[in-house]
Amino acid sequence: MRIGVLTGGGDCPGLNAVIRAVVRKGVSVYGHEFVGFRDGWRGPLEGDTMPLDIQAVRGILPRGGTILGSSRTNPIKIEGGVDRIKENLAATGVDALIAIGGEDTLGVASQLHERDVKVVGVPKTIDNDLSGTDYTFGFDTAVNIATEAIDRLHTTAESHHRALICEVMGRHAGWIALHAGMAGGANVILIPERPFDIDRVCEYVESRFRTRYSPILVVAEGAHPIEGQIALQAGELDAFGHVRLGGIGEVLAKEIEKRTGKEARTTVLGHIQRGGTPTAYDRVLATRFGLQAIDAVHEGDYGKMVALRGTDMVRVGLDVATAELKTVPVSRYAEAEVFFG
Ligand code: F6P
Repeated sequence: MRIGVLTGGGDCPGLNAVIRAVVRKGVSVYGHEFVGFRDGWRGPLEGDTMPLDIQAVRGILPRGGTILGSSRTNPIKIEGGVDRIKENLAATGVDALIAIGGEDTLGVASQLHERDVKVVGVPKTIDNDLSGTDYTFGFDTAVNIATEAIDRLHTTAESHHRALICEVMGRHAGWIALHAGMAGGANVILIPERPFDIDRVCEYVESRFRTRYSPILVVAEGAHPIEGQIALQAGELDAFGHVRLGGIGEVLAKEIEKRTGKEARTTVLGHIQRGGTPTAYDRVLATRFGLQAIDAVHEGDYGKMVALRGTDMVRVGLDVATAELKTVPVSRYAEAEVFFG
């Protein structure tokens, strides 16, 4: 078989580890051939390919980013996009596709599967917000980067008796904030799933100052106050209709200063959470996903996303996996709340 591989959406550490595992097992165990599609769905849409053999994947296991490039191209929004993809797959002799991506990339994969494209999905995202899998690769690395940043913020916050806010990514899910905040001993964690009460946040800040320690607040980029408390500006939309998030940390700092009279400053971690080498956990998870994905293609088990359940590799329908976001449950947030203030 000739198999196409693409990586779509926001990149994350571990993408190269998946590509390597797919190609290594696909070539050496099954004798398949591979072709890389550049920049997510733009590759098959425009027939933009690159060679992908064992030589091309040597040495990439610990490398962040993706050797295939990525984009947020949405072929479903482009007139005739699906037909162009089908024509280009036929023209390049590709029998099946492995799409490595998050909710958006795999949502496209699911729709292509309904239009008879042979496709298997692999769940990537630092946000860990894909249903059907306990974890996505990239998340552990992002959490470790954010935790290290929080540790560092603690020491400088205490020297200057300031409230320091750490804004993390995660889009509409608070997983990174919850895990990094718990691991870093944050005094307040704000997540999109639970609109926050600014009066309450300020009470936590003041009670922390009374202990002679400085408050550290972790805020997810998608967190927002209870309706009507603070005015927020709307961001731009991407090709999948998602709003570009970011800026809540700064809003929060201003409000805390205004209400408590204490200095509050914000650090936005941004893309640092997505760059660089994956943790050992993410390398292993990504490698296992890659091995499972090539097995699924070899067995003709299309329309599936490979997934982690407990410690086992399983496969779930792409439609089920992309039907709804996996958000932080109330009970998980309650565990973290014990440590607030
Ligand atoms: O989905 C991953 C993610 O990093 C989100 O946490 C974030 O909201 C978004 O991508 C940022 O996207 P980009 O950097 O591509 O604009």
